[in-house]
Amino acid sequence: MPHRFLILGATGDLAGRYLAPALAALHSRGLFPIDRPVLAVGPEDWDSVRFRQHVLERLGRHAGDLPECSRLMVAGAMEYHRANVTDPGQLARLVGDGHDPVILYLALPPKVAGAVIEALAGVRLPADSRIVAEKPFGHDLASARRRNQLLHRSFPERAVFRIDHFHGKQTVQNVLGLRFANRVFEYLWNRDHVERVEITWDETVALEGRAGYYDRSGALKDMVQNHLLQLLCLVAMEAPVSFDERDFRDRKVDVLRAVRRFNPAEVARHTVRARYTAGRVGDRDVPDYADEPGVDPGHRTETFARVTLFIDSWRWAGVPFVLSTGKALAQVRQEIVIHFRPVPHLPFEKQSPAANVLRLRLNPDRMELGVNINGPGDPFDLERVRMDAELAPQALSAYARLLLDIFDGNAVLSIRGDEAEESWRIVEPILDAWAAGAVPLGEYPAGSTGP
Ligand code: BG6
Repeated sequence: MPHRFLILGATGDLAGRYLAPALAALHSRGLFPIDRPVLAVGPEDWDSVRFRQHVLERLGRHAGDLPECSRLMVAGAMEYHRANVTDPGQLARLVGDGHDPVILYLALPPKVAGAVIEALAGVRLPADSRIVAEKPFGHDLASARRRNQLLHRSFPERAVFRIDHFHGKQTVQNVLGLRFANRVFEYLWNRDHVERVEITWDETVALEGRAGYYDRSGALKDMVQNHLLQLLCLVAMEAPVSFDERDFRDRKVDVLRAVRRFNPAEVARHTVRARYTAGRVGDRDVPDYADEPGVDPGHRTETFARVTLFIDSWRWAGVPFVLSTGKALAQVRQEIVIHFRPVPHLPFEKQSPAANVLRLRLNPDRMELGVNINGPGDPFDLERVRMDAELAPQALSAYARLLLDIFDGNAVLSIRGDEAEESWRIVEPILDAWAAGAVPLGEYPAGSTGP
């Protein structure tokens, strides 16, 4: 790799939880040859020895999956630098004055990432450098626009990788194969045959010590603005000519641009927000969200959001897309469900069976199609059967998959600047109406099915 790899925020949770294991996984498959140090940058007063111990400790949690030699090699490759990365002078020193291009991975909280992007505008970067930004990209439309403008002063768009790790999930990519490599589904994939679509990401995890970030974000910004809108794009997009980064991302932006922007009355009609109260999830006691350490109840942060969106296009006019996500719920339910319309006429007098349902389960990975057939006994009796396929588990983690693309300079699975802005265009009126009190903040006990 001709690039020097810099991780800004290397001592943070994201780098330890996702990036270091992803690098070790790539190394173990011969996909990350370590031929130069990885520059790990953080605010802590550590040296490389101390930092490597930290990395080894984090990698040790994956001892079952990651070979020891790769864990040692990745930790050993880390060269720690203490710096204030929001300072242009210190950033310039890290980037160096050599000719080698850099990959700057901003593994930083959103606010700090914004400050680094501001600071970078004053730093000269070697040609062909790349930058990686985590979600959420900005905190509203104006901040996303500003970040895009600043980034484009130093980087062409193809060198900016806005990460949405859902794109690295194999099941998410399966939506594309299912839709665009089969005849049987695509012809039914429109308002004539589809009644509604549900995209659900229910989690059992609660705050998990992330109040510092989550309490200023909430479910809408944390999940809907990025991950769930991206799933919506894959379900609703027109067939791209190719999976070239331009063709593919153009078709996604078409979807986002067609999503109706709500007025406050529509927000009140089509959205739900709530936060969990004390309860029990499995065998864990979960405190009231407002009592979680680090939470300011005055922020009135939602841990559950449901929005019903409409795509004003010829293909999807009138079809509701229900996007829903919540934390501390009873069960993990992560799926895309396509509800087809009932048949136009049913010759079976005694029964009116449910319409077809295609369920793409994203965790664990399965695909199910509910169909009606003749049951045993009376040949005119109907029975519901489920055609069920278990899909192969993911070989590489989502982060490992996306890192490979970043190293290769392939931006197809990264979020383009206009996509990030369009997503805020959809979400911002909802946030504004919520802040103005258009939708009451409901409650649900932790461990329940939600509000
Ligand atoms: C992250 C969110 O982006 O995605 C988390 O910040 C969420 O709140 C997570 O739990 C869900 O993704 P995964 O891959 O961990 O299921």
